[in-house]
Amino acid sequence: MAPDPTQNPNKLPPLMQNWVSLVGAVLSTCTLFGAVALLGVDFIRGMSNPYEGILTYVIAPGFLMLGLTIVLIGVLLERRRRRLAKPGDVPPFPRIDFNISRHRNTFIVGSGGVFMLLVLSAIGSYRAYEFTESVMFCGDTCHQVMSPEKTAYMESPHARVTCVQCHIGPGAEWFVKSKISGLYQVYSVLTNKYSRPIPVPVENLRPAQETCEQCHWPRKFFGAVLREGHHYLADETNSPWTIQMALKVGGGDPSFGPAGGIHWHMNIENKIEYVAKDPQRQVIPWVRITDPNGKVRVYEASSGKLTKEELDKEAPRVMDCIDCHNRPAHRYNPPVDAVNMALFTGRISTKIPFIKQQAVTVLSKEYVTTDEAKAAIADGLAAYYKAEQTEFAKTNRGLVEAAIAEVQRIYGQNFFPEMKVNWKPYPDNIGHMNFPGCFRCHDGEHKSDDGSVITKDCKACHVIIGQGPQPTEANQSLEGLEFQHPSDIGDLWMDQNCSECHDGTTGGL
Ligand code: HEC
Ligand code: HEC
Ligand code: HEC
Ligand code: HEC
Ligand code: HEC
Ligand code: HEC
Repeated sequence: MAPDPTQNPNKLPPLMQNWVSLVGAVLSTCTLFGAVALLGVDFIRGMSNPYEGILTYVIAPGFLMLGLTIVLIGVLLERRRRRLAKPGDVPPFPRIDFNISRHRNTFIVGSGGVFMLLVLSAIGSYRAYEFTESVMFCGDTCHQVMSPEKTAYMESPHARVTCVQCHIGPGAEWFVKSKISGLYQVYSVLTNKYSRPIPVPVENLRPAQETCEQCHWPRKFFGAVLREGHHYLADETNSPWTIQMALKVGGGDPSFGPAGGIHWHMNIENKIEYVAKDPQRQVIPWVRITDPNGKVRVYEASSGKLTKEELDKEAPRVMDCIDCHNRPAHRYNPPVDAVNMALFTGRISTKIPFIKQQAVTVLSKEYVTTDEAKAAIADGLAAYYKAEQTEFAKTNRGLVEAAIAEVQRIYGQNFFPEMKVNWKPYPDNIGHMNFPGCFRCHDGEHKSDDGSVITKDCKACHVIIGQGPQPTEANQSLEGLEFQHPSDIGDLWMDQNCSECHDGTTGGL
């Protein structure tokens, strides 16, 4: 027989006095204390790794909810048991009477508890939201999978922009979408189903207008930017070659400055659409431009034209920021670029004979793991200098050792064999040296019916204002210079695209 509720007001409500509810109550009390303690730790010290966050904001609240659900199930089971035992005795809904002190106390304690829980879960959900949007959560939770993107991102111009500002952007719709696709990603990591490397272009990337343009206002660019490229040849002295150029970024609303330049033609004034032949959008045989007056012109590549069926199959893609700036946060440098930069900054000494050629050679080989690569880099370079440059290596051991360490660092920064990531599967569409880039359309071979050609004029996008081993007044001009190729290859640089020879390694030369 149930005890008289008016007699013992300090005990648990009678319906909760069953084993199931008791287990639930113990579970929820323990996790509640645990969660509050973890929350305190987060507030005082912050999180040192993403697993603490997952424990605090995913696992602890999950168990708390589970515990409370078990309490409720116990209560319902107990009611059912009583109704079956004495049909008609137990009314379908509980009778609450505030004149009974036990009911009053239960109500006060209960609503106090619910209020506390609401406050805690408000704080908890806010922090859980912040945490699942953090670079730590996106970049470190499944460390191996995201390691290439996180590593490259940390050295990009956007290292202070969070992952979600580009990959999700503002608004509830994309927030929900991202959490749903996130669940699938967790599943594919747990079941080891994810692809290596992660394929690009990212299919469900949010349109650039809603991400990039939240910070960069395309009408506000104007003028040109000065770019200085530092190159070294693959000869004994690692001969330097510098190229200074004014890149006509332009853009600009006439109300802010003169209109013109790359952004103006491509992004603001005109609408450009294209159809690519490959999923990576590297071969573009068909381009359509619609000018502000609505005039339309179609350009087609002279070789590899698309058939009518192929064209009908695919909706043309409207060109936006990502079609040029596809590596704003994750650029995996090709060996040539990475070694040029190390030579320029002095991390590798230009005094070491043939170091440009040798460093690029060891970086261009295929390795299965990072450890294997680092060992092979050290062995390969040490062996070369011992055998071929014996005298130099004897007197300059420190220089060679520092170079080896730097080449290993370059490898760690740009190559991720475990994920099959390096520069090759991730072409950079800015420029045209190591990848087709702008020359996917601007190769001088895209023509329209009325005879116009998408320009390959070397002065359309930039003017070279200085070039040579050491640009001085003698080889500088603000008017713009004719391009001089650093090594003598005749007119080949005019007839062929740069990336037909330059593939990021010395192997292509
Ligand atoms: C400045 C904007 C920006 C930021 C910040 C950013 N990304 Fe990206 N991310 C991109 C763009 C653009 C692409 C390439 C889209 C394409 O080629 O289709 C990309 C591609 C990726 C890819 C696909 C594989 C690859 O390497 O291209 C992954 C995975 C990724 N990002 C994860 C992250 C993570 C994790 C962070 C935070 C540590 C992050 N991103 C920060 C813009 C950004
Ligand atoms: C949350 C703000 C934010 C978002 C979103 C953002 N950027 Fe940026 N971006 C910046 C800032 C700030 C800089 C300047 C960094 C500096 O100069 O140190 C920058 C710099 C750049 C640069 C110049 C890099 C250089 O080499 O100097 C490019 C290009 C660029 N962003 C493109 C993009 C693209 C493309 C996207 C969308 C995928 C994007 N940004 C999204 C804030 C943002
Ligand atoms: C046709 C290709 C193309 C498109 C489309 C394009 N850009 Fe650029 N953008 C360039 C080039 C080329 C440069 C200069 C070279 C560089 O930064 O490497 C540049 C430079 C920039 C810079 C650096 C400007 C500076 O003064 O240093 C930012 C920021 C930028 N772009 C943002 C954007 C955003 C945002 C969009 C989309 C609204 C966009 N771009 C669309 C080609 C393009
Ligand atoms: C998808 C094809 C495509 C790609 C890729 C492309 N462009 Fe263009 N570009 C065009 C078309 C089409 C025009 C307009 C031609 C016309 O006026 O009819 C154009 C025009 C231009 C112009 C104006 C040229 C002039 O006549 O003065 C500049 C500058 C330019 N692009 C820069 C770039 C740069 C820089 C890149 C690489 C970062 C690039 N474009 C990549 C298709 C492309
Ligand atoms: C459609 C625009 C466009 C055309 C046409 C064009 N370029 Fe470029 N070029 C670029 C852009 C954009 C970059 C800068 C990429 C970057 O920021 O790294 C560049 C970079 C370069 C560089 C510097 C490479 C470096 O890393 O230092 C050289 C040299 C160069 N171009 C030569 C030429 C020559 C020669 C021609 C004519 C055959 C030409 N370009 C035609 C857009 C163009
Ligand atoms: C027929 C093949 C070929 C073509 C086409 C070609 N190059 Fe080269 N390029 C070479 C060779 C060979 C070297 C010398 C390699 C070395 O010593 O490292 C070289 C070296 C260079 C270098 C200095 C080396 C470095 O690693 O930075 C630059 C810069 C360069 N080329 C720019 C260009 C540009 C820009 C174009 C397109 C307008 C172009 N090249 C087209 C073959 C070519």
